[in-house]
Amino acid sequence: MSTIEQRKITVVGAGFVGMTCAQRCAQRELAAEIVLIDVLEGRAQGIALDLCQAAAIDGFGSRVTGTNNPADTAGSDLFIVTAGMPRKPGMSRSDLLEVNGRIMGEVAEYIRDFSPEAHVIVVSNPLDIMVFLMRAKTGFPSKRVVGMAGVLDSARFSWFIAEATGTSVIDVDAMVLGAHGDSMVPMEHFCTVNGVSVSNLVDRERLDAMVERTRKGGGEIVNLLKTGSAFYAPASGAVAMASSILCDEKRLLPSACYLNGEYGIEGVYTGVPAILGKNGVERIVELPLDTEARIGLQKTVGEIQKDLDALRDLGLL
Ligand code: 2OP
Repeated sequence: MSTIEQRKITVVGAGFVGMTCAQRCAQRELAAEIVLIDVLEGRAQGIALDLCQAAAIDGFGSRVTGTNNPADTAGSDLFIVTAGMPRKPGMSRSDLLEVNGRIMGEVAEYIRDFSPEAHVIVVSNPLDIMVFLMRAKTGFPSKRVVGMAGVLDSARFSWFIAEATGTSVIDVDAMVLGAHGDSMVPMEHFCTVNGVSVSNLVDRERLDAMVERTRKGGGEIVNLLKTGSAFYAPASGAVAMASSILCDEKRLLPSACYLNGEYGIEGVYTGVPAILGKNGVERIVELPLDTEARIGLQKTVGEIQKDLDALRDLGLL
């Protein structure tokens, strides 16, 4: 008999990231009820039906439903918000500000009205701005609204380290702070292969190349796919965060959190290590930063402020 928890998760947006999140949540039985909502008629319903039929083979007990009606999301414990346009080759994440900002505002409204106690994990880009907007529009406490990017960027860095060192990626721990954009701050001093500092395993030049590739990691996949952006690793990141919150796992995951003086930063969301549990962001962990990382973090916050100003100019904030 399944011990599946009587929880409800809503995944907003049934594009590749959203449908993969719904699949992973169902396969891990993170909730008894998983709702997939999209504005396109039939898309979420079709994916949900397909997933329910996969359950007959895979044997998971979560029930997935698809809808276009926000009322069907009522009473959700957690939302994963993936709605919005992905980048096309040549676009920066900031180019999505207006179109995705409008979508985020609408989604925030029904989350606030139908699920006032929910946790929200935002995945849509530009991430640090969309999660700020989500918190502002829902009015939820910031510990219940968090963004997924650091897990993804750190996973990319981990993979490049594993490839370069010829080691198993499961032994690699990497940490990336700051904005989900070219100004992110890969923290090479906190990157290890089973406790061994990565700087003992590769030379400076290769390490610099990996840092640069991590910064451009999303764009590399956009250029390869041509018609969309990455979805497996983004979904893995969002579902890892959802699991830590819903199952109170207390994982320490790099997450886009609202900063209130931590790292000397005030009033923006950006990527920092955080412990995620049943209360959402339970603690922001402050790492000692060297001068380079400190300057990097200041630069990343400057970029975020610029986008927030642009959002205000558009009247969306
Ligand atoms: C990425 O970096 C979609 O922003 C996401 O792949």
